[in-house]
This record gives sequence, structure tokens and C-alpha cells, in this order.
Amino acid sequence: MSRFPADFLWGASSSAFQIEGGWDEDGKGMTVADYNSFKRSNRQADSKTASAFSHHREEDIELMAELGMKIYRFSLSWARIIPDGDGEINPKGLEFYDNVINRLKEKDIQPFVTLYHFDLPYALVTKYCGWLDRRCVHAFERYARICFARFGDRVKYWQVINEQNLMIRVDERMNIEEPDAWKADRMRAQMDYHMFLAHALAVKACHELVEGGKIGPAVSSTCTYPLTPKPEDVWSARMNDYMKTVYCLDMHCYGKYSGIYMRYLKERNIVPAAEEGDEDILAYGKPDYIAVNYYRTLCTSYLPADEAHPAGMRTYRGNEVDFDQYGYCRDERNTNLAASEYGAQIDPMGLRIVLNDYYARYHLPLLITENGLGMADTLNEDGTVHDDYRIDYLRAHVQACADAVEDGVELMGYSPWSFEDLLSSHQGFRKRYGFVYIDREDMDLKTMKRIRKDSFFWYRNVIRTNGEEL
Ligand code: BG6
Repeated sequence: MSRFPADFLWGASSSAFQIEGGWDEDGKGMTVADYNSFKRSNRQADSKTASAFSHHREEDIELMAELGMKIYRFSLSWARIIPDGDGEINPKGLEFYDNVINRLKEKDIQPFVTLYHFDLPYALVTKYCGWLDRRCVHAFERYARICFARFGDRVKYWQVINEQNLMIRVDERMNIEEPDAWKADRMRAQMDYHMFLAHALAVKACHELVEGGKIGPAVSSTCTYPLTPKPEDVWSARMNDYMKTVYCLDMHCYGKYSGIYMRYLKERNIVPAAEEGDEDILAYGKPDYIAVNYYRTLCTSYLPADEAHPAGMRTYRGNEVDFDQYGYCRDERNTNLAASEYGAQIDPMGLRIVLNDYYARYHLPLLITENGLGMADTLNEDGTVHDDYRIDYLRAHVQACADAVEDGVELMGYSPWSFEDLLSSHQGFRKRYGFVYIDREDMDLKTMKRIRKDSFFWYRNVIRTNGEEL
């Protein structure tokens, strides 16, 4: 007998700007994701074509059906539906998604829809400085309501914002260009708070408008190990998780900042401005489930604040802002784990830990909406792609999910990243995650043919046997 429930939601994931292409077709407005990807157009693929899903929709959904997917997790582009973010509705944008949703339903695939995956309509940045302004909250609530009203008869699973907890620390995604670290952090805290309000309002609207609708956040999970059992190292690892993930889930589930996060906001003197009635909005917005995006684990040691690392200093991990306000944390390499060629520490056990931790803390059903291995795959002359490294990675992580289910975690499904190759944030089409290979390179669109990788056939069998054959 399978260790997974009979109604387990096997799927695969993507996001609008990373696959759709047609970035300005049929009235679509530019998004923050487009804007940022165009900055890199001279050296890597951008969102103009991406995987050209908009022109290969039928074929791609056919392949999803062949894979046996029960759900397809994808995002709507807000600027395709409302080009300037809060103005006129674009009927062609609504039709575009109607067609995707209808086709999925015909194929017995449940649409699992994210409202906002890094792609704020750029017009909202020009008009309001994006999430800094409360008008953006109302624009989002309106957009969410439009989507629930239009698609809610067919879409029962909704995700509000993809990885708010990670996005907020990436200046480019938030359009923070402020050179002063304190001012930038103050903006960040206010934007984060506005997104929490928007999130809560969307949850409430979904419950009002979508019969039987389920809605929740998708977090970029962190699982941080201490380098040694020294209490200070353990503290640094805990802080890394508290400050980057737990604070966000606490806000979604309990409607308030955790004590330690509030302490940070106060000591940094960046407590966001709130209005009367906000507490009620936040309290109302409790999600139905938590979606977990999981790729890797982290390892830290304690870094005391000193002259070289003064409290309040801003540092970056990759392109993410780090919280060094307490001078607490230095990145370490975990020598127990292998790393991918892009440096991600591969750790299936970490997934079991994350699932158990979140379930114990929030008592909500969980679902994995991203997990995968980005690699530079090779298309062989005979048209095959042998990605056994990806199969190994996914197999171990599905195994970790089965263990978590046996631990008693209520796991609704597993939807890895990604259904097809897509535009990776910083490595364009060099770094691929898909079950389906897209025949293009960064600067050469080639044939755009869709090619099943070995992992496609492996995953098809996993779904067919409900995870019995890994
Ligand atoms: C997640 C994002 O954080 O990581 C995806 O939700 C992203 O949009 C994925 O593509 C993989 O990261 P990257 O940088 O390899 O594209």
C-alpha cells in the first residue's frame, strides 16, 4: 500500500514571467519582473519569450496530462489582467487564463493558482513606489477579487503571494534603490507590512467569493543548522530561521509579529505605520494551508557584533539582504552535505525537518509547491536528456515527504519546480529545472521544441503508482 494518501496532489510548478513570454501581447503591461529581466537582456534570456508558453499552451498542457499531473501550480500575471495595476481590466488577459484553466480542467488537472509571483505591475512602482504605498494594498485586493469572481467557479486552490519572506529581502524585486541602509530597511518593513495586509484581505475575499476555496501563502522555507553545538551557534541558526521565515508564517497564521521580530523592528526604529482596523484585517486572514518551497538547507555560526560587523550593518547573501542587526550570523559550509553545481546544499532530511517543524507550530495542512534541482542539462544528438542527477534529487525528497507523512504530517501534495525549463532568476536558461526540456539557449531561440527528459518518465511512474515506485 502507498504511504501517500489516495487523494495526494502530485503536480508540477511554474510562474507567469518565467514561462509565458508574450510580455506585451494583447495589452499586457510591463511588470517588475520584466523590468529586471530586461536589464540582463544582453547576457541572458529575458521574459520576452521565456519558454513561450503563451504560444505552446495546448502542447504543454497535453504534456502535463501525459505526465499524469493532478495539479498544475502556476501564477497569473497581474499586469496581463490589469495592465497598469489598478485601472481598466484587460478582457484579453482574462480570456488568456480562462483558456488555460479550461484546458487544464478538460484534462482533469486541478489549477493551483498563485496571484503574485515576483511580478508587480510596473505602473504601480511609477505611480505609488509599489508596496510602499497603501494604495497598492487596495489595488491587490481589487485584483484578487476580480480573479476570484472570474475563475473561482473552476479554481479551488489559491496561493496569494509567492515567497514574500524572500522577495522582501531582494532589493531588485521590491524596487528598493535607496543607498542608505537604514532608510532601505524602513522601506522594506513598511512594504512587508503592506503585503501582509494584502495577503490577509485576499484570504478573506477568497473565503467570501470562492465556494469551497482553499488559500494560503507559499514560503521560501529555511532550515538552518548550527555549525557546532555551542549555544551561540545554535542561537545564530535559530535566529536565521526566526528572522527570515518564522516571523512571516507567524504573521500569516496569528496576525501579529513574533516577539523577536518586533524587538528587531523597534531596535532598528522601523516599526511600520499601521491604521486603525488593521489588527482585525490581519486576524481574519488565517490561511487554510501552508505551501512550502524547499531547495536546500543552510548552516551558520555566531558572529558577534564588533567593529568589522557593527550592529545595524547591512550585508548581502547573494542578492538577498541579511539581517546583521544583531551581528548574529555567519554563513558556513556544511561539510556533511553535497552541493549542486550552483552551490545549493542538497539535503532531503532537511525537508522532513521543515515539514515536521511547520506542522507542529501551525497545525495546518502543508503542501510543497517548489522543490527541484537546477542544472545545465545536455540535449543529446538522439534527442534525449539524461538527467539522472535530478531523478536522484527528487527521489530522495519524495522519500522525505513519505517519511513526514508517516511522522503524522498532513501533507496535501508535492508539486516540484518546474514543469518545464524556464527563466531562472539569475542564470536564464543555463540553469534548468524542468521535466520537459525547452530547446532554446539564452541568446538563441533555436526550435523551442518540447522534449521529455528522463526525469519526465521517472516522475510519470511515481505519480501513476502514487509514490510506491520511486
Ligand atoms: C524560488 C522562486 O525561490 O526559486 C522561483 O519561487 C525560482 O521563481 C526558484 O525560479 C529557483 O531559483 P533560481 O534562482 O534558480 O531561479
